[in-house]
Amino acid sequence: MLISKKINDAINQQIGNELGASLQYVAIAVSFDQQALPRLAAHFYGQAAEERDHAMKFVKFLVDADGEVKIPAVAAPKAKFATAEQAVKLSLDWEVEVTGQIHKLVALAKKENNYTTDAFLQWFVREQLEEVSSMDNLLKVIRMAGQGGLLRVEEWIARQSGKVTGPETMT
Ligand SMILES: [Fe+2]
Ligand SMILES: [Fe+2]
Repeated sequence: MLISKKINDAINQQIGNELGASLQYVAIAVSFDQQALPRLAAHFYGQAAEERDHAMKFVKFLVDADGEVKIPAVAAPKAKFATAEQAVKLSLDWEVEVTGQIHKLVALAKKENNYTTDAFLQWFVREQLEEVSSMDNLLKVIRMAGQGGLLRVEEWIARQSGKVTGPETMT
């Protein structure tokens, strides 16, 4: 086994955190879907899939390092949001929190001189910068547009994903 029990336990906990994020993003996507906001919904369904991928990266790491995979209980996500801003603010707070969790894992790996774990975690350090930055941008746009301007947020997301929203290319 290439990792200590302490690192193994912390990574199992992180698998739960990533799966929790995935469930939370599904719940947020559903709430947008139910308000007929398909781009916001698709954005969060996509985020949910990414979080599941993060969990699976940690699972694969434990298997590769001959550790023990023990997935913890995951709390039910929050399902009701008064506004889009509230849902996205929750997501940004979550991403900031996860960044702290990843940094703690890095600190533990460094403390144990576990270069295998440290190197593996660097992907997540970079990924969190992107996740926080993109969620922060989405929150800014939602705040600018306001609850009554969510259709403009839909257009913004469509442009961000490289789709042209001119009438000639609308599907
Ligand atoms: Fe994640
Ligand atoms: Fe994330």
